[in-house]
Amino acid sequence: MPQEIQERRIDQFFSGPGARADEWRGLVEAAKAWSSGSGDRVNLEKKLSQLAITEEYHAYPGLRLMAALTERAAAGDAAGTLALAMRITQSLQTRSFRQHASDWDAQADADADMPDLLPPGFGETRVRRPYFETLIVTGIPATNWPNLAAEWRKLRRPVDGFIYEPIFVGSFEDAFCAAMLNPDIAAVIVNEGFARKSRHDAPILRSLISSMEPKDTGESALALAKTLKRIRPELDVYLVSNQNVEELAGNPEADVVRRIFYSVEELLELHLAILEGVQDRFSTPFFDNLKKYAQRPIGTFHALPIARGKSVFRSDWIRDMGEFYGPNLFLAESSATTGGLDSLLEPTGNIKEAQEKAARAFGGDRVFFVTNGTSTSNKMAVQALVGPGDIVIVDRNCHKSHHYGMVLSGGQPLYVEAFPMTEYSMYGAVPLKTIKQALLNLKSEGRLDKVKMLDLTNCTFDGHVYNTRRVMEECLAIKPDLIFLWDEAWFAFARFSPFLRPRTGMGAANDIEAWMHDPKSVDAYEEQRKELGADPSDDTLLNTRLIPDPRQIRLRVYQTNSTHKSMSAIRQGSMLIVKDVDFHTVEAQFKEAVFTHASTSPNQQLIASLDVARRQMELEGYGLVANAIEIAFAIRRAVAANPLISKYFSVLGAEQMVPAEYRASGFTDFLASGVNWGQILKSLREDEFFLDPTRLTLVCGRAGFDGTQFKGILASRYGIQVNKTSRNSVLIQSNINNTRSDVAHLIRVFAEISNEIDRDLAQGGANARKVFDARVKSLMTDVPDLPNFSHFHDGFRGDAGDKTNEGDIRSGFFAAYDAAGCEYIRLNDPELDRRLKSGPDLVSANFVIPYPPGFPIMVPGQVITQGAIDFMRKLDVKEIHGYNNVQGLKLVRPEALAKLMDRHSRAHGIKSAAE
Ligand SMILES: Cc1ncc(COP(=O)(O)O)c(C=O)c1O
Repeated sequence: MPQEIQERRIDQFFSGPGARADEWRGLVEAAKAWSSGSGDRVNLEKKLSQLAITEEYHAYPGLRLMAALTERAAAGDAAGTLALAMRITQSLQTRSFRQHASDWDAQADADADMPDLLPPGFGETRVRRPYFETLIVTGIPATNWPNLAAEWRKLRRPVDGFIYEPIFVGSFEDAFCAAMLNPDIAAVIVNEGFARKSRHDAPILRSLISSMEPKDTGESALALAKTLKRIRPELDVYLVSNQNVEELAGNPEADVVRRIFYSVEELLELHLAILEGVQDRFSTPFFDNLKKYAQRPIGTFHALPIARGKSVFRSDWIRDMGEFYGPNLFLAESSATTGGLDSLLEPTGNIKEAQEKAARAFGGDRVFFVTNGTSTSNKMAVQALVGPGDIVIVDRNCHKSHHYGMVLSGGQPLYVEAFPMTEYSMYGAVPLKTIKQALLNLKSEGRLDKVKMLDLTNCTFDGHVYNTRRVMEECLAIKPDLIFLWDEAWFAFARFSPFLRPRTGMGAANDIEAWMHDPKSVDAYEEQRKELGADPSDDTLLNTRLIPDPRQIRLRVYQTNSTHKSMSAIRQGSMLIVKDVDFHTVEAQFKEAVFTHASTSPNQQLIASLDVARRQMELEGYGLVANAIEIAFAIRRAVAANPLISKYFSVLGAEQMVPAEYRASGFTDFLASGVNWGQILKSLREDEFFLDPTRLTLVCGRAGFDGTQFKGILASRYGIQVNKTSRNSVLIQSNINNTRSDVAHLIRVFAEISNEIDRDLAQGGANARKVFDARVKSLMTDVPDLPNFSHFHDGFRGDAGDKTNEGDIRSGFFAAYDAAGCEYIRLNDPELDRRLKSGPDLVSANFVIPYPPGFPIMVPGQVITQGAIDFMRKLDVKEIHGYNNVQGLKLVRPEALAKLMDRHSRAHGIKSAAE
């Protein structure tokens, strides 16, 4: 193999589907250059050989078309090579090969002489059948693969709901590569007898495999099945064995395999099983029924006149609404729970089934569909799991739904602080040491039994991803029955990336569960226990990576996701995912939580979209998420590489977003020179925090814009919507919807804005430069300190101990209902400063949440500090929830507090007397 080709190792190809498109474009360019005389054949052949390695993992263009390209090049036919390369590239781009047989033909208009080489079934039906690819891992020599492929194609029948092409590979490593690189693969057949190593050189790939499946990467079919399921759990894996299949089938480890077949003699059965497996993912029980329902003639003598659309389409005045949305929306509207529909509040039919499928897709035991956003999912989870007086360790910087959940349930929040990123006016995530310290403090006060839950946001709004497994393991080592609530409003898509999945709540819960069943886990625990001794100090516990006792753990993990934020669900579509061994103890409470929060008229289209979003992710989520990540990398790269744009804008990397102490691997940035997947994987595995690559903090302060201003310019002048803002940045988020054209537009806009700044500065002279520099300085360096949570006033501390600062937020919240017991002081009133200096304490009567940054700088019952007031005074945002500009801050009056304290001590006194 020529030296240059060896350099092009398969493990360097992990950059998603877009990289493949780039390679083909590169080939077309080389062919153009050769045929126009500005390039040569050698360059084309080099590119073609490089491309050929990864094309082995795709059905199209396949061995035959690749061979045709090679032959044309070898024959010196530059024009013919160019024509074929262009046709293939176009077919890949438009995906037309999925439907058109002629795309598979080297001589586009002469397919008569090779009927059985073309996929029969293509073009035979007018109904557009979804297309996928089936990976076949086999020990049969590669020379036999074309014949085998022809055998598979003969199995196609017009009644098949889907159409698929087989791809053959001969080794464990090639199977791994194919599953990683080809998002179209939906099913895998593993025949025993394949080789271990790829014939291509791939050192990083090998470390990747061992990180995915450290135990056994041998030739065993089961080991391969397990590895493939680990990278892509949604794949159906079939095992074909000539040995004792009964024994294999009885092996509990074989649960990763959908079906086991004895020898290949059952080809048709296998074919049917493959189609059935895909059908199982394709089927959307609620949506399918809703479509059927919409087609039926139904007379409604019920509420919801909009259902069936007659009041709309017969109206002269609102018909445009009907024309805009189309008739199906109205035909599919119903307030019934009968006639093939189901009840979201008490699902027994197709909603139940749809939820079960979602549980499978997202790695939980059960799922609740929620139609009021994750704001509601969070409140439901908190209400169902936390009772009055229970302590919840919670990130103060979390979404308001958690705080309100605590108000509703009477739980006592013990706020823990995320590390601050003061220069960007935002918080990071909560260090594990802080969480462990809180647990140890409670333990030392003998109140560990009161702690119910750890409630964290993963990833945070700005993209900080926890090491979820480590957090849960270490906390379980201190409190084995702690419940975890991971708010993954933004992170649901991560389930479909093998890199990010282990850092999701459910990904980690499944890994912990597998670890608990591994006999080595008990040894590891016992060994650490011996090392730490009978009574380890807090310091030792804080500085040790604690191993929980696998025999004691009650694994209770909850995850909420805003399906609408990262998948194809309609706004407000959300899921609450459960993996809780003790769910039966809280099931009734969950029912109550559903009854409390779910509307009795949930929107049918929302429920259907949750069902459909699940279908999409199970069938194409892998490729879509890879694309979203790749788009984010493309933006990062383009901003950093463009000399004009990078003068004024930058995207923050891990180095700026995560302090070094939380990046033990030494990883600095996705784009740092020399970074490869090996280092990224090490960081993913080991570092306390990792940055979600799809969330990009673009600093715009150096261009003289504050976040809100820049967001406004992008929206009003260029039609570009971005996510949240901070004082000097905006958050750009890539998702499964984005294309390379979107990136091109964004980068062009950044270039245009940068150009304008350059020009204005050049034309404005010294004064313009002075004004600009001052603005940049104010945005970038004159930033307010972030105010940490202070403490609850003694009147709202419930029964908190000395070392911890949890509080009775519910009483604080309802103190605001007593109008006479509250007062208002305006932010610029000197009375505020006088009270801060000499008392009495200023105690907030409500939540005060400025947007941005969006975290509560005051919660009900909290004592207000100088830091909070300074922060508010420096804030130049318009939207501050809970603060009334005219009246000022709402405070609990000192007299009302005194009364509360009095009541407290009397209650305490009575209790003492009783004791
Ligand atoms: C971390 C977090 N959790 C929950 C929510 C609420 O989600 P939803 O908009 O689906 O109600 C948000 C909204 O932005 C959020 O950022």
